[in-house]
Amino acid sequence: MINVLDLGDFAQPVLVCGGAYGNLEALEALQRWADLHGFSDDRIIHTGDAAAYCADAAGASAFIRERGWPSIKGNVEEQLAAGADNCACGFDEASVCNAMSQRWYAYADAKICAEDRIWMASLPSQLAFTMAGRRFLVVHGAVDQTNRFMFESLQHAGFATQLTVAGSDAVIAGHTGIPFTRRLGDQVWHNSGALGLPANDGTRRVWFSTVAPHGDGIRFCHHALVYDHATAANKLRAANLPAGYADALETGLWPSPDILPGTEQRAAGVALNCEDHLWPSELEKAV
Ligand SMILES: [Fe+2]
Repeated sequence: MINVLDLGDFAQPVLVCGGAYGNLEALEALQRWADLHGFSDDRIIHTGDAAAYCADAAGASAFIRERGWPSIKGNVEEQLAAGADNCACGFDEASVCNAMSQRWYAYADAKICAEDRIWMASLPSQLAFTMAGRRFLVVHGAVDQTNRFMFESLQHAGFATQLTVAGSDAVIAGHTGIPFTRRLGDQVWHNSGALGLPANDGTRRVWFSTVAPHGDGIRFCHHALVYDHATAANKLRAANLPAGYADALETGLWPSPDILPGTEQRAAGVALNCEDHLWPSELEKAV
C-alpha cells in the first residue's frame, strides 16, 4: 500500500539525496556540505535505499534515522522491514547485479539493528510538498512501482504516464543511480542520482541535488560530491562484500552495466556535467 506524508510548503531550498547504499563516508561528506550551506535536517530529503552495496548498512541507516531527515522507503527498506530474503531491486534474474545483490542484501539484513528495521517499516512510501506554488511528489523508483527504473533515456510517454498518476507538477525520484532533470511540457521529472555509488561516469564523484525557489519558479541544481572513497572501498573489501562495488568506488564505473538501457550504457565513462535547470526557463519567462 502506498502512503504519502505531506511535508507542507517549503519557502527555503531543500537538499535531495538518495541511495546512500551503506556509504557512511559519503553521508558524512554530505552532512559537512549541508552544514556549510545552512540546510537543517528537516530540509534534507532521502529518497530511499539507505543500505545496499557498501559496508555500513547499519551506520548509514542510523545516520539518517537519528537526524530525522524526511525519508521514504526504497525497495531495500521495504524488503528489510518485511524480513524478505532479497532486495527486490528489479534486476533481471540473469544480470550481474542480481547475483551480487544476494551477498550485499544478506550482509545488510544481518547488520541492521531492530531499531533500524522498525524505522524502515515506519517510513512513508512517498512524500509530498509544495514550493513556489508547485506540487512535488517524492518517490523511489516510479510513482506506481517502488522498483521501476525511470532512466533519463526512457521515452516521453513513460514519464507522462507516471506524472499523470502522480497528479503533481513535479516528481523527484531515485533508484536509478544517475542524476538528471527532464522537462516534460509544464512538468518536471528530477532524479538526484545516488549518494552511495558513483554515476558510472568514470569519476569517483557521487551526486545529490538542491531544489530551490527562484523568483516565481524553481531552480534544480545537481551537485557532485568528492568524499573519502578510499575508506569506503577498504571497508567494503574488509567486509568481503562483492569486490565489484569497491572497484566502482575507485574507478567510477559500475560492475553491472547490463541493467542499463543502451543510451546509459554508451555514456559509461563519460564524465557527467549536469547543468542547473530553471523551471520555467528564462526563455519561457520572456514569452
Ligand atoms: Fe532502489
